[in-house]
Formats: sequence, structure tokens, C-alpha cells
Amino acid sequence: MTQNGLPSLRCLSSDRLLVGLYRTFIVSKAGKETGDAKAPLQLPRHIAIIMDGNGRWAQQQGLPRHAGHRAGVKSVRNAVEQSASHHIEVLTLFAFSSENWKRPKREVGLLMELFFTALHREVKRLDRNKVVLKVIGDRTAFSEKLQKRILQAEEKTAGNSGLILQIAANYGGRWDITEAARALAGRVARGELDLQQIDEEAINGALSFAGLPDPDLFIRTGGDQRLSNFMLWQSAYAELYFTDTLWPDFDTEAFDQALTAFSSRQRRYGKTGEQVTEAANRSVILESEV
Ligand code: FPP
Repeated sequence: MTQNGLPSLRCLSSDRLLVGLYRTFIVSKAGKETGDAKAPLQLPRHIAIIMDGNGRWAQQQGLPRHAGHRAGVKSVRNAVEQSASHHIEVLTLFAFSSENWKRPKREVGLLMELFFTALHREVKRLDRNKVVLKVIGDRTAFSEKLQKRILQAEEKTAGNSGLILQIAANYGGRWDITEAARALAGRVARGELDLQQIDEEAINGALSFAGLPDPDLFIRTGGDQRLSNFMLWQSAYAELYFTDTLWPDFDTEAFDQALTAFSSRQRRYGKTGEQVTEAANRSVILESEV
């Protein structure tokens, strides 16, 4: 069992087919707290996180900024474990934005070193836990050594069946949309695609996250309330969750709080609240008949 009283990853098959069942029948901590033992915890399929506040965390401890990034790796590990144990399908972490190159050279260098060593250290553990690792963003700006390590880590975990962990590095939402536009325009120019065939699905298919569900829950730690060019297209319907907690302090309890907050949101996608409640009631009746 995990600290949440939920079955741990090891107790359950990570076969994605079972994930749906788990997600349907899970009894939530939130439900227990409200005395309604049957209230299901609505889990996001995809969580995206802007991990902000490492620098301020370090400064508060009287440490240099890079000590905050190092401490942030522990929270990365915890977020991965929590996501896996809740059978979240995709976790996307914003590790380095296209704009982060503007930081002092030394900090950028230390961050690159940290990615390199963390990839080396964590990949075996990720593989053991059936995690699929993907790095998204323009990796051509990284050193050859780092690019090679990323590729090795991706290849090692590609066949796994568990959580998909995406690390966004040298990534920007506008970059992603621009690349997709260029790729589609190229296909039109080569006569492979008709102009009329450029629709939302075609754009989705040309983005970095093609084939994956959009983020349902978008978390930003560190107190700021902005998207900072992260997953702009894909987050159109994401539930935004902002917390003052600094990333190195984003522990299991903080993760659970975000899930509980998500669970209490009603996602309407343009419909009325009554329509959504009615549809939810209908699906509960259908499930109880199975
Ligand atoms: C933002 O905090 C954080 C970053 C730019 C880097 C995030 C990196 C990690 C969490 C560590 C390594 C990650 C992986 C995936 C191995 P900030 O420096 O902007 O903090 P501040 O707002 O307090 O200055």
C-alpha cells in the first residue's frame, strides 16, 4: 500500500488494459474524508508540471541556486512514483524552457550536467518500474554527449508498458506549434497533403505529443500563475492548479492535494453543469449494471 492507502504499483499489473478498471473502481482518499466511501477520485490521465521555485528554495536555505535544482530531482522522483502508483498515463515535466538559455552561463551548464547525471542514475530505476521515458523539445542545441544519453535512455525504456514520462527540455509551446506548422506546410508543398486536410487532428498529429492524451491537470509550483509557453496547444482544456509550494518541497502530500483539487473540478467542455451531472449519473448506472 502507498501512503494514500492505495495499492502500490508493485501490487498491480501495469498492463494498460487494467488501468481503466483501476481508475473506474478506485475509492478515493477525498471520498473517505467526506464520509462517502464510494466517491471515486477522478484521476487525470495526463499531468503536466512547471517545476518552479528551485532557486528561491536554495536561497531560503542559504545555498547556491543549483543546490535547489539538485533538490528538485528528489521531487521529480517522487512525482514519478506518485503518478505511477495512481496509474496516471502520462506525466510531463518542464525541465528547461527555450527561454532558460538566457540564464547565467554557469547555471545553464550546471543544469545540463544535472540532466546528464540524473538520466544516467535514474534510467535503470525507471526501466524497472516500466516507465517509458521521452524527451521532448529541440535537443539539437544540447551537447552530442547529452543527446546520445537521451537517445540511449529512450531506447532502453521504449518497450515498457507503464507511465509515460516526458521531460520537456529546450521546449516551448510556440516552438512546438511553429514546428508543426512547418511540417504540415512542407507536406502541402510536396503534394502529400491537401490544404483542406489541415484540421485540429492534423495539427495534433504534428505536435511533439502526438498520440497522447492532452494534459488534464496542469500544475505550477512556486507561486506564479502563468503558463510560461508550456504546452500551449495541448492545455486548451487543462485544469490549472497553482501552488505557492516551491518545487523541492512538492512532496506526496502536495501531490495528493493537487489530485484532490482536480477531483473536485467539474469539466464541462462547453456543456452546462446539468448536462455533465446527468451524463455522469448515467455512466454510474451503466457501470453498476456491468
Ligand atoms: C525552475 O526553478 C526550475 C528549472 C528551470 C529547472 C528544473 C530542473 C529540475 C527540477 C531538476 C532536474 C530535472 C530533471 C528532469 C532531471 P527556478 O530556478 O526558476 O526557481 P526560482 O523561480 O525560485 O528562481
